[in-house]
Amino acid sequence: MKRTILVTGGAGFIGSNFVQLLLRERPAWQVVNLDALTYAGNLENLSAVEANPAYAFVHGDICEAADVARAFAACRGPVAVVHFAAESHVDRSIESGLPFVRANVLGTQVLLDESRARQVERFVHVSTDEVYGSLGASGKFSEETPLAPNSPYSASKTASDLLVRAAFHTHGFPGIITRCSNNYGPYQFPEKLIPLMIANASEDRELPVYGDGQNVRDWLYVEDHCEALLAVLERGRAGEVYNVGGDNEYPNLSIVRLILSTLGKPETLIRFVKDRPGHDRRYAIDASKIRRELGWEPRFRFELALPRTIQWYQAHAVWLQRVRSGAYREYYARQYAR
Ligand code: NAD
Ligand code: TYD
Repeated sequence: MKRTILVTGGAGFIGSNFVQLLLRERPAWQVVNLDALTYAGNLENLSAVEANPAYAFVHGDICEAADVARAFAACRGPVAVVHFAAESHVDRSIESGLPFVRANVLGTQVLLDESRARQVERFVHVSTDEVYGSLGASGKFSEETPLAPNSPYSASKTASDLLVRAAFHTHGFPGIITRCSNNYGPYQFPEKLIPLMIANASEDRELPVYGDGQNVRDWLYVEDHCEALLAVLERGRAGEVYNVGGDNEYPNLSIVRLILSTLGKPETLIRFVKDRPGHDRRYAIDASKIRRELGWEPRFRFELALPRTIQWYQAHAVWLQRVRSGAYREYYARQYAR
């Protein structure tokens, strides 16, 4: 029987990697991608699969029930939802929190209501380790760590997690929450640390490092995250939370130095700038539950996957240039809206 995965936010960084993984690894399934194409949505990420008959794109907003209903109407057979769509950049949430509450909180509730009415098989809610707040020098986030978000972004993601939890407890809705650490890899919008630093260094522009550069993030290659999501989709237990991470902590300054040395650029490009307000000091994930219960393991070692990522951005200089210039936004009109 045909089975459909409704992916929200599939034109973004992780969503577009996930759509490609699904079409590659589960060719019998159908994939419907519902995306509003905000600044972060880029259909050029999916140009390689747009002619695949197992793939369909629906342009729409998760905050609009009619748009979500249109996406469900494009699905065949039993449906499962993997929910990526969100406003995702902390710095933007500091500028203005409202778009985050709208997309992440309101949008998730609309999607939950429509998904419940449609009796979906399961609903994987893609969340973040940032809901746990900030760590000191030691310790890791487990699934039992109290939620203590510090930015408007992470607060809105926490609210959406609680709505998924409430749907499970109130309605027996088959929601599952994943909380992953920072991702890196192909198709990441160059406002986030790693692609921004690669892009700036390639053009001999300054690399803005916030504060003392000693904030620590726990980096995971995007394909490892996507494989974890597939494992959760297929074998995860409804009502559960799964942390996802690769035991791969680095201070920001080390990442920036690694990028510079890989590109053969001088450290004089580093510019220490005013710190981000409320900047979380350290994130680190205890992913033992997903390893134990679902047998997931990360496959990509940072020492190889970071240079591979840098090479990807070098080989896709046109993609990067079109994102930086805004030209990528014309793609939808040219390819779809004829
Ligand atoms: P992204 O910003 O690259 O992409 C977000 C996508 O969602 C875009 O395609 C955008 O057009 C779409 N979107 C936004 N609002 C929408 C709406 N109202 N309706 C429909 N589509 C909408 O984000 P990302 O980095 O790929 O992150 C995807 C998800 O994973 C997010 O929920 C984020 O919180 C979570 N996450 C990200 C990371 C990371 O390191 N990037 C880590 C852990 C969890
Ligand atoms: P980011 O990629 O925005 O992810 P998040 O804030 O969700 O972890 O930032 C990663 C780290 O890099 C974070 O500690 C902030 C820092 N950072 C800089 O130092 N300079 C920058 O220009 C950016 C975008 C981030």
